[in-house]
Amino acid sequence: MKVAALIPAAGSGTRLGLGPKAYVEVAGRSLLAWSVAALAPHADEVLVALPGGLALPRGVPARTVVGGATRQASVQQLLRATDADVVLVHDAARPFVPARVVQDVRAAAQADGAATAALPCADTLVRADAPGSARWGEAVPRADMWAVQTPQGFARAVLLAAHAQAEQDGFEGTDDAGLVARLGARVTLVPGDARAFKVTTPGDLQLAAALARTWDT
Ligand code: C5P
Repeated sequence: MKVAALIPAAGSGTRLGLGPKAYVEVAGRSLLAWSVAALAPHADEVLVALPGGLALPRGVPARTVVGGATRQASVQQLLRATDADVVLVHDAARPFVPARVVQDVRAAAQADGAATAALPCADTLVRADAPGSARWGEAVPRADMWAVQTPQGFARAVLLAAHAQAEQDGFEGTDDAGLVARLGARVTLVPGDARAFKVTTPGDLQLAAALARTWDT
């Protein structure tokens, strides 16, 4: 059974403000290089979606495709470029995902057809009282709430069908498991890890740099 790691890395990194995020370095290594290193041992091939006109950072062993205007479009390009039976989709922006999480997602994807890393919610959750408002509206019970991470693993045929349906419906999601779930298919939640957080803001870079000092998983 062939497994491909698909790494969408074509984002512009607007919130971070340092140019395309995948190229931003932590401890002398790009976020993309950290992410590829985390996934590569668990896949037969690694494919990366890059912003148009940019090349892979030095020392990143992967095939490349040009990404799309949205994350979803970038994943679609990656899906079209592989014939693997199982795909592991992982954001370049999550450089520190432990091997245990990748292994568990891969195993669950092979067993169930669709799986994602996710963390049970530890914080109190509240909905704002109106869209865009910063005022407390209604608390949302956090029991049974999970924060979804990557990697996410799928039988490639399942994810292809989910993307095709989303495109037909004009539906734009924020991840791939959501596209599969909206088809009514079962998606297994695999316990993720807080260290697999998404580097989004300048403060996250500080956390990532601290983590890089002791990283060996
Ligand atoms: O923007 P966000 O942080 O949600 O992006 C998640 C991942 O999707 C990042 O690794 C980013 O590079 C990737 N992405 C992409 N193509 C886009 C937008 C985002 O590959 N058009």
